[in-house]
Parts: sequence; structure tokens; C-alpha cells
Amino acid sequence: MKKFFINTYGCQMNVHESEKLAGILYQRGYIQAKSNDDADVILLNTCCIRETAETRVLGNLGIIKKIKEKRPEVIVGICGCMPQKPGTAEMLKKRCPFIDIIFGTHNMYCLNEYLDKAEAHHKVVEIWDKEGDIETAPVHRDGGVNAWVNIMYGCDNFCSYCIVPYVRGRERSRDFNEIVSEVRSLIESGYKEVTLLGQNVNSYGGGSPQFAKLLRALSEFDGEYRIKFMTSHPKDLTEDVVMAMASSDKIANYIHLPVQAGSDRILKLMNRKYTSREYLDKIKMIRSYIPDVGISSDLMVGFPTETEEDYLCSENLIKEVKYNNLYTFIYSRRSGTVADKMDDQIDLKTKTERIERLIKLQFEIGNELARSYIGNTYRVLCDTVENGIGYGKSSCDKSISFKAEENHKGKFINVKITEAKNNKLIGEID
Ligand code: 5AD
Ligand code: SF4
Repeated sequence: MKKFFINTYGCQMNVHESEKLAGILYQRGYIQAKSNDDADVILLNTCCIRETAETRVLGNLGIIKKIKEKRPEVIVGICGCMPQKPGTAEMLKKRCPFIDIIFGTHNMYCLNEYLDKAEAHHKVVEIWDKEGDIETAPVHRDGGVNAWVNIMYGCDNFCSYCIVPYVRGRERSRDFNEIVSEVRSLIESGYKEVTLLGQNVNSYGGGSPQFAKLLRALSEFDGEYRIKFMTSHPKDLTEDVVMAMASSDKIANYIHLPVQAGSDRILKLMNRKYTSREYLDKIKMIRSYIPDVGISSDLMVGFPTETEEDYLCSENLIKEVKYNNLYTFIYSRRSGTVADKMDDQIDLKTKTERIERLIKLQFEIGNELARSYIGNTYRVLCDTVENGIGYGKSSCDKSISFKAEENHKGKFINVKITEAKNNKLIGEID
């Protein structure tokens, strides 16, 4: 039997898209290999959100080149955001002539056809400019307790630093009933958690009333399960969505609400369409409905023109919000975006120094929060058990570990927090 291995980079959207690529390959009669070394088809499903993501892909291509030299019959394919970026497919074709198939984000569903061509020794370079219709591929999920479900694709926001709208195309939403029936069958087949995916889930179906309606429809099934979603844009998150979250214990009390910066001047240059005050008011609104809500965020340092004063606004904002989890990034120039053309790009030394300070501050905030949870009991969905220790998350997205048995995996368990160490919560079954 022929084997495949998929190297996935980037966000959850890509992780889920790799499950679709795997679905196509299983349908073709392939099975999963353990690594690139024993695969007949090697795929790289790539990301280009920051330069570091692309550097990682190029590094791995160097290793794959050696595999191809030893076993020329191996088919190597690269797809996703990186080749979709203007000019990159040509660069890959020139720099890595050993690649057999180059395709983008809009034509992932054509993998089967491309493999036919590659097996007949024809190279494929096919990037579509326009997003095609929403198509469904057979999904091969890896098991586990969480299942990913796309509800929309693309982004229309054009934040000035971001390449996503250029490589993922315009916003398109999946059919309401199709999503409801997919989620229902996942819950019926034993998944305990479903995460709805979209670059901007709050504009699902053209606006948040539709998204709130979707959340309500997805909380109607029998049994204990959790619905999560990501990502929410602060400008589009409305009270009706928060009310839908608050009214059902099946919708997780967790929201990822990227702020990106604390300075209003920078937020304006980023084209985020909210001020820090408006953002903080939204946080207040969410907490008024769901007091124990878990909130996480993305924050960037070193956007063009960012001064020390601007940076300190970000520090102040995270001190005020006290996020559960903060994902911090160094701004990375992406060609084709508005911010790439701005003067006053910040030097790497300043950016590195700022991100180090930010990480340190968030670590202190996280530790303080973690200590305040000692004595609380959370309902944890255990997703892994390793060497007698169970790992899982609460509805408000706190990661918790506890002494567990093998059969706790996939179950909801009440765990009382007994210890907080380096931002980590440790507890025992209550
Ligand atoms: N540089 C650094 N970080 C970026 N992100 C998006 N574009 C860039 C960029 N050019 C971050 C944002 C976004 C997260 C997924 O990646 O914070 O929310
Ligand atoms: Fe990028 Fe902004 Fe769209 Fe998010 S909302 S994908 S940051 S353009």
C-alpha cells in the first residue's frame, strides 16, 4: 500500500485542511506514513503569515530534496498559503525544481487530479486567482476529542499588516444546515468538542445575528459536549453572540479576541476599526454576561512607526484585561500589504526587546491569575493521558493537569485546582 505524509504549518484552518487532503489520499487508497522518510507522497501544507513560517518551510524543503535524491519516485507537493502568495510559485519552481506539484489555497480539492498527472511524470503548477465554490472533501480526522469544522473561508478585513485576504480570498460562508448536520453527526459519533473555524466567525452569513443563530442551533443536541469557535474580530463581536454563549452550557465560555495593539494610533494604521476603549468596553460587556469567561488574544510588537509610548499602551492594555492566554508576535513585513509600504519600519533589536518585555509581563499576569484559581473546581475535558497524568481544558480554556487513569481520556471530569506552577494549573479529581 502506498503511503503519504503531510507536513502542516500554521493555523488550525491549515490543520483542518490537511485532514481534507488526508481524506482525498485515503479515498485514493493511500495510508498515512510515520514520517517523510517512508512516504510515497510528501505534502507540505504551508503558511505565510510571517517570514518565519516561510523560512521553516524552505528549511524542510532542503531535507525533502535529499529524500527525493535518494528515492526519485517520491512525489513531492506543496500547497496552501505560501504558493498562493504572488510570485512564490515561480520562486519555488526555480529554487526547488524537484517539487512535482505546486498548488494554492483555492484548488486544494484538485489534489487527486494533480496526483494522476504527477504519477504520469507531468509536473503541475496550478494557482487559481479566484476562490472556487465551497466544496466538500472527505475529511480524515485523526480521532482525539476535538473535531474542527469550517463555517466560513476567507477574509474581507484587510488589516494593513496581514497577507490572509490576499491568499485566502473573499469571505464565503458555508450553508447553515450543512454545518448543523455535520456537527450533529460528529457529536453523535462521539466527539466531545467541536471547534468552528473561520478567519472572522462573527461575520458568518453576513453578520452576527446569523452567527448567534448558528450557535443556538448547535447547542440543541443531546449529551455533554462543547462548541468552541475562532477567530472573532472585536469590531464584529456583538451582544447577541455573547448572549447565545451565556444561555447555553454547551457553548464554551471562551473567546479568542485578538487586539493586536493597545495604541489607538497604531490600531488606526492597522485598519482594525476599533479603539482600545471600544475593545475594553467589549471585554466588559462579555464579562457582564459570563463572569468566568476565558479570553485570549493576539498582540503584535514593532508595527511600523510604533514608539515606546505606543508599545507601553499595549502593556497597559494587557494589564487591564488580564488574558488567560496571549499569543505575541513580532511584526513581519509581508509584500503586497499596505504596512509593507510604510516608512519607519522598526529595527529587529527594538522589536525583540519589546516582545521579550511583553512575554515577561504576560508571564507575571498569568502566574498571578493561576494562583487565584487554587481551590476552584473546573469541569475538564480530558484529551490526553500520559504516564498517569491527564491533560485537558476547562470550558473557559484553562489548561489543567491531574492524576488520571487511561480511561479518563475523552471524558468530562471535575477537577479541583491544588497547585499553580509557572502558569500551569495542577489539580485532583473532585
Ligand atoms: N506580522 C506578525 N504577525 C502577524 N499576524 C498577522 N499578520 C502578521 C504579520 N505580518 C498575527 C496577528 C494575527 C495572528 C494570526 O498572526 O496577530 O491575529
Ligand atoms: Fe488578517 Fe485581519 Fe483578516 Fe485576521 S481579520 S485574517 S488579521 S486581515
